[in-house]
Amino acid sequence: MKIIVVGKGGREHALVTALAESKSAPEVYCYPGSDAIFDVAKRLPGEVDDVESLVAAMVTEGIGLCVGGEESWLAKGLADQARAAGIPTWGPVAESAQLESSKEFAKEFMIRHEIPTGGYAVAGNAVEAKAAVAGYPTVLKFDGLAAGKGVVICNNESEVDAFLEEVFEDRRFGDGRVLVEEFLEGPEVSVIAAVADGEYQIFTPARDYKRLADGDQGLNTGGMGAVASRALVEPEVLADIEEKVIRPSVEGLVKDGLDFRGFLYAGLMMTNSGAKVLEYNCRFGDPEAQAVLPLVGGDLAAYLKKAAEGSIEESLISFDQSWSICLVMASAGYPSSSRNGDVVRGLDDLKDARVYHAGTKKNTDGDFVTNGGRVLAIVARGSDRESAREAVYTEAGHVGFDGAQQRSDIGKMHFD
Ligand code: AMP
Ligand code: GLY
Repeated sequence: MKIIVVGKGGREHALVTALAESKSAPEVYCYPGSDAIFDVAKRLPGEVDDVESLVAAMVTEGIGLCVGGEESWLAKGLADQARAAGIPTWGPVAESAQLESSKEFAKEFMIRHEIPTGGYAVAGNAVEAKAAVAGYPTVLKFDGLAAGKGVVICNNESEVDAFLEEVFEDRRFGDGRVLVEEFLEGPEVSVIAAVADGEYQIFTPARDYKRLADGDQGLNTGGMGAVASRALVEPEVLADIEEKVIRPSVEGLVKDGLDFRGFLYAGLMMTNSGAKVLEYNCRFGDPEAQAVLPLVGGDLAAYLKKAAEGSIEESLISFDQSWSICLVMASAGYPSSSRNGDVVRGLDDLKDARVYHAGTKKNTDGDFVTNGGRVLAIVARGSDRESAREAVYTEAGHVGFDGAQQRSDIGKMHFD
């Protein structure tokens, strides 16, 4: 079987790797991919510049399964068009992908199906938004895809004004409204389920670390690391999350007639009054995928093919019970900017770790150099959290590049 993964980052590198390692040994392609990904996956022949030409190239190549990695392609109708062309697709149609692409759509869905989430108001301009702020801290969210940059936690009026100016005057994210949301506190957990027409299976829970610096200080990023394990949340807490969030979400999709075959990601805040949904995503998390997918055994390729055709066959995959920690290395200047061209050293010295590339390319000598904000993820496992931490930091000590930034408390913060 020929499978294509759509995307180009660390998550897609982890996806193509997990698919290539599947027992059924599929031929794995990627678009748009990256130099590191093309060490594992094939390039899709043909000229591609939009969803239509991508699907046409997939048909010509005889692709039998399309896996949506990046949300932007799903929001643009990748699944609608690929399925219309007869290619089973893992990742929802654009209508259902609004669970991620529109925060207002997601909130209305949660209210309708009584899924716990923070209170909110929607504002179409700065005056309405300011009137909706009930106290501090308050959370403001741009209602659309903003690559992780559209959410701010404001501690005072001037921070609110600064964000509203970016949204309504500078139009930094394009046209759209703003959600003013209740501030929630607690550790976060990402629960990702494979969902197909009302059936679902919950994958290993994970936690990602969004802030740049240790102790959750510094700017928000795309994710500086993640930790995953079945033991991350107590079994009764996971059962509660399933009962109150995952099952009603999956049933809600069916009730609303929203066609959904793909990963449904619930970003949860574990508050004193239980888990509350911060956001849905309609694809695997990044960097959660880099931590979780190395724990998946069996035949992920066969599993996703069946799931894309509408049935979840749990026996096709298994989950390793160990802990997995993913440590992200970012380039100088990230997240405000990023520096390209720094040579990555030590990749051949990694022994007991995987490396997934998020922002690298090969230079003319064939060496990997930095090419983006988040550069690499180093992933290691251990039978418990401490040994996974030791392994990932020891291995990461072999790898480096000028100006590299990494946290030292991945898998530690929020546990002690
Ligand atoms: P989102 O894109 O909605 O997941 O928001 C990105 C990040 O902002 C989340 O992972 C949280 O760390 C933080 N966040 C979002 N909503 C809230 C909230 N209501 N209260 C506190 N923090 C939040
Ligand atoms: N790790 C958060 C996300 O993938 O959106």
